[in-house]
Amino acid sequence: MQANGIKKLFSAIARHYDFLNSLLSLRFDGVWRRETVKVSCVAPTSKVLDVCTGTGELALAYSDKMGVEGSVIGSDFCFEMLAVGKQKLQRDSSRPALSCRNTNFLAADTLTLPFLDNTFDIVSVGFGIRNVADLEMGIREMTRVAVRGGRIAILEFTQPVNPVFRSLYYLYFRKVLPFVGNCISRNKDNAYGYLPRSVMQFPNCDALKAVMERCGLTDVQFYRKTFGIVAIHVGKKRAS
Ligand SMILES: C[S@@+](CC[C@H](N)C(=O)[O-])C[C@H]1O[C@@H](n2cnc3c(N)ncnc32)[C@H](O)[C@@H]1O
Repeated sequence: MQANGIKKLFSAIARHYDFLNSLLSLRFDGVWRRETVKVSCVAPTSKVLDVCTGTGELALAYSDKMGVEGSVIGSDFCFEMLAVGKQKLQRDSSRPALSCRNTNFLAADTLTLPFLDNTFDIVSVGFGIRNVADLEMGIREMTRVAVRGGRIAILEFTQPVNPVFRSLYYLYFRKVLPFVGNCISRNKDNAYGYLPRSVMQFPNCDALKAVMERCGLTDVQFYRKTFGIVAIHVGKKRAS
């Protein structure tokens, strides 16, 4: 889908996005984000950029694990999604583990990030790179702004390997999830039908690893989670 279509889709569901994520994933979404933070080896002083941050859940998961000397920026090109994230920052002086006060959100296209080369220790993306119009260009841009030796972490839906589980899961993913998602968000454009369609077209774990390596990343590892519904890929930017 082109950038304008993506912006329109997410602006229409922004208000319901967090609730539906949590409901439709049976609250596994938070577990997957925390795992992503863990495998990207964040330190209390890390500088993190979370692209396609949407309502900021992955950015905030990083914040929860960091100290006051670290910083987290969440960027996205959909204002309505970012607005939900910004509200959380104001409200979340109450968030118990939010130790990193240096968390900010800003509007930016992942394909043309407004940062200098070699800026961030970790550049992450959760359920977002699948929506970027040019996957390879998106990963290259994430890699450009990471420091040498810095990590790129990608959390994304993938296709379960076990054929029995896969057929049951696809029944839910292709039929139940779009129906419930569209009903609750009152979306008439079948926004939640886009999710399974885009996942089916997305590269599998090995193919995504190969793309990351082409983009200049080394030591790329991936971890399948929850019967392979999602995978977390982590790679390092080459030191030279
Ligand atoms: C499924 S949401 C993911 C939100 C969040 N990262 C999460 O973990 O739930 C995908 C987000 O990617 C954003 N997005 C897609 N393409 C983008 C691009 N080229 N630049 C910036 N944001 C983009 C959309 O606006 C949307 O907020």
